Amino acid sequence: MSTRRAPVVAIDGPSGSGKSTLARGLATRLGFIHIDTGAMYRVVGLRAAEVGVGIRDDEALGRLCDRLAIRFDRRDGQVRVLEGGRDVTDDIRRPEVSRLASDVSTNPSVRRALVEMQRAMGCEGGVVLDGRDIGTVVFPDAEVKIYLDAEVDERARRRTAELAERGTPEDPRATLAAMIERDRQDSTRSEAPLRPAPDAVHFDSTRLDADTVLARAIELVRRFTDS
Ligand code: DC
Repeated sequence: MSTRRAPVVAIDGPSGSGKSTLARGLATRLGFIHIDTGAMYRVVGLRAAEVGVGIRDDEALGRLCDRLAIRFDRRDGQVRVLEGGRDVTDDIRRPEVSRLASDVSTNPSVRRALVEMQRAMGCEGGVVLDGRDIGTVVFPDAEVKIYLDAEVDERARRRTAELAERGTPEDPRATLAAMIERDRQDSTRSEAPLRPAPDAVHFDSTRLDADTVLARAIELVRRFTDS
C-alpha cells in the first residue's frame, strides 16, 4: 500500500497519441505537476548532438546525463523546458531531435539516469508523468495508469498539423514514415520497450476528441481519490 498523499498518474503510449495534451489537461484540472519525460530524452538527444557525443556511446551519454540540469518552469501559463538555465523548449521539438531522442533512449545509462531523475521529481505524488515506460518501469506502483493509443495515420496527421502550426511544416509522407520507424524502435528496443502495463486502462483516441479523453481520465483519477 502506498503512503503517498496524492496519486501518481502514469500515461504511456506512442508519439502523437495525445499523451502530452492529456497530461497537461489533467495536471491543470487536478492541480498536479506535469512531468513530460519525452522532453527529457529530447534534451539528451539535443545536447548529445551539440557536444558531439555519439548516439550509441553509452558511457559518454551517461556522463552527459550526469551533468544535465533539466527543469520544467511555469511561465505565463506555459511550461518551458530549461537545461542549465537555457530555454530549450523550441529546440527539442525539431523533427531531427525526435529521432535523436528515440536513438539515445535505447542506451541503458541514459535510461538509468533519467528514470532516477523522474522518480525523484514524482515520488511524493500529485504528479502526472507521460512517456513510454512510466507504468512499467518508472512508477510500477502508480495509483492510476493509462495507456493511450491511436491509429498511426491519425497520429501522423496530428503531428503534421502540429509542425505546420509551429511554422516548421514537413512533408506528411515523411512525417508518417518517421513515425512508423520511431514506433518500431521504441517498442522493440531491449531496454524498457514501449508496452502497456498489465494493469493500465486503455484509451484509443483515434476517434475521440481531447476533451472526451480528459473527462474519462479525470473520472479514473477521481475514482482513486474518492475511495
Ligand atoms: O514523447 P516524445 O515523442 O517527446 O519522446 C521522444 C522519444 O523519447 C521517444 O521516441 C522515445 C523516448 N522516450 C522514452 O524512451 N521513454 C520515455 N518515458 C519517454 C520518451
